[in-house]
Amino acid sequence: MHDPRLGERRITRVVYDADTIRQRVRELGSEITRAYPDGDLLLIGLLKGSFMFLADLVREVRRPAQVDFLVASSYGTGKVSSGEVRLLYEPSTPLADRQIVLVEDIIDSGRTLASLVERLRSRRPRSLAICALLDKRIAAPQPELRFVGFEAPTSFLVGYGLDHAEDFRHLPYIAEVD
Ligand code: IMP
Ligand code: MG
Repeated sequence: MHDPRLGERRITRVVYDADTIRQRVRELGSEITRAYPDGDLLLIGLLKGSFMFLADLVREVRRPAQVDFLVASSYGTGKVSSGEVRLLYEPSTPLADRQIVLVEDIIDSGRTLASLVERLRSRRPRSLAICALLDKRIAAPQPELRFVGFEAPTSFLVGYGLDHAEDFRHLPYIAEVD
């Protein structure tokens, strides 16, 4: 494990190591493959947090699929969700009548997803499901949440795409930061 210490912030505990993540992502890929036996499939990754998860996940999807992204405004540099979601990019291709899986890194309050789901629904997809790597289970359960990687502790997590003030995204494992 490389030393990811940055100033005062330290990794205090590895919550899910790289092997555990790889195994679970493989299972999620199979679940998604089985859930969509026919028709087209569009996986939409919410940037930036989902970049590593999405890249690994799509390689475990064994059926035709397309990939696009959503870019929403983030937490900024803090640890608390503002609840406001600004979209900086969304797919320009028509979403009407398409099977869509929205791929997200982590669900905390659920506000980010609630707002994105509403916006995507207005584009009339045939189906809309959410695949989240981590769920802190604080949010009210969302009917679209169909694929979940891991239950997450409520502490602040970094690595495997997750950041604190843009740092730690590159770590191949998920860890707590102090
Ligand atoms: P929510 O709107 O409160 O559900 O927050 C979801 C978003 O906040 C995620 O897409 C992440 O970008 C970010 N986030 C929430 N919890 C964490 C965490 O523990 N570490 C890093 N980012 C987080
Ligand atoms: Mg973030």
